[in-house]
Amino acid sequence: MTSEPVDSAAEPVDPTVVSRRLARESLGQDDPTGWFERLYSAASEGDAVIPWDRGTANPLLVDWVDTAEPSGAGLRALIVGAGTGWDAELIADQGYDTTAFDISPSAVETAERNHPDSKATYEVADLLNPPAEWHRAFDLVVEIFTVQALPIALQPEATAHVGDFVRPGGTLVVIASARDDDTPDDAIEGPPWPLTRAAIDAFTGPDLKLIQLNRSPSPSAATNYRWQAEYLRD
Ligand SMILES: C[S@@+](CC[C@H](N)C(=O)[O-])C[C@H]1O[C@@H](n2cnc3c(N)ncnc32)[C@H](O)[C@@H]1O
Repeated sequence: MTSEPVDSAAEPVDPTVVSRRLARESLGQDDPTGWFERLYSAASEGDAVIPWDRGTANPLLVDWVDTAEPSGAGLRALIVGAGTGWDAELIADQGYDTTAFDISPSAVETAERNHPDSKATYEVADLLNPPAEWHRAFDLVVEIFTVQALPIALQPEATAHVGDFVRPGGTLVVIASARDDDTPDDAIEGPPWPLTRAAIDAFTGPDLKLIQLNRSPSPSAATNYRWQAEYLRD
């Protein structure tokens, strides 16, 4: 019997390994968002895999579109932490004038490369310091897995900015991993830091109301749960 040399390059890459290492380094340097650019940049060189890139829109956002049947003609949408652009494309296809932003320039480049004929506009921006002109400027705001990608101490500020983008009469859709309210913050070894029910309620305000909330098993692991929340501003 002959033994074959192990070709490590042929081993499948565990998509979480590189991202976890980059996140740990970044958080250790008190730079909670720097690892996103390093990860997207490494992925564009073929040295990493983006763990959350499904190559399609989020199934819960697809469900929302199928149920709500939104008609975006003449309306503006904002996609928060848009990553590689699949959710932005789904929303732009509903007729919304769609802006999609991410803190990582390489994510924006990847989204533009993925979708060369896109009707969406991709931009670099920071949810923690967004452009002033986005204040209450959008008829539809979609936030998927961005707030939970930030350390818990930063989540209230990020959550407040997400809600602030919604104009009167506008809708906010939030999709996030769920955690039980009685799981203490320090028991979570993020990223991600999944959202409690209280964190879902924190998107509301005096005139931004939670109108629908579902909690369903994650397609990837039935022991994990996902929130799908819809809010409406009076
Ligand atoms: C877990 S990924 C989710 C990406 C995408 N929403 C999805 O569901 O596939 C979080 C995204 O948020 C972006 N992000 C993290 N912090 C951000 C910030 N402060 N402002 C804008 N984008 C941010 C990251 O670069 C990354 O693309």
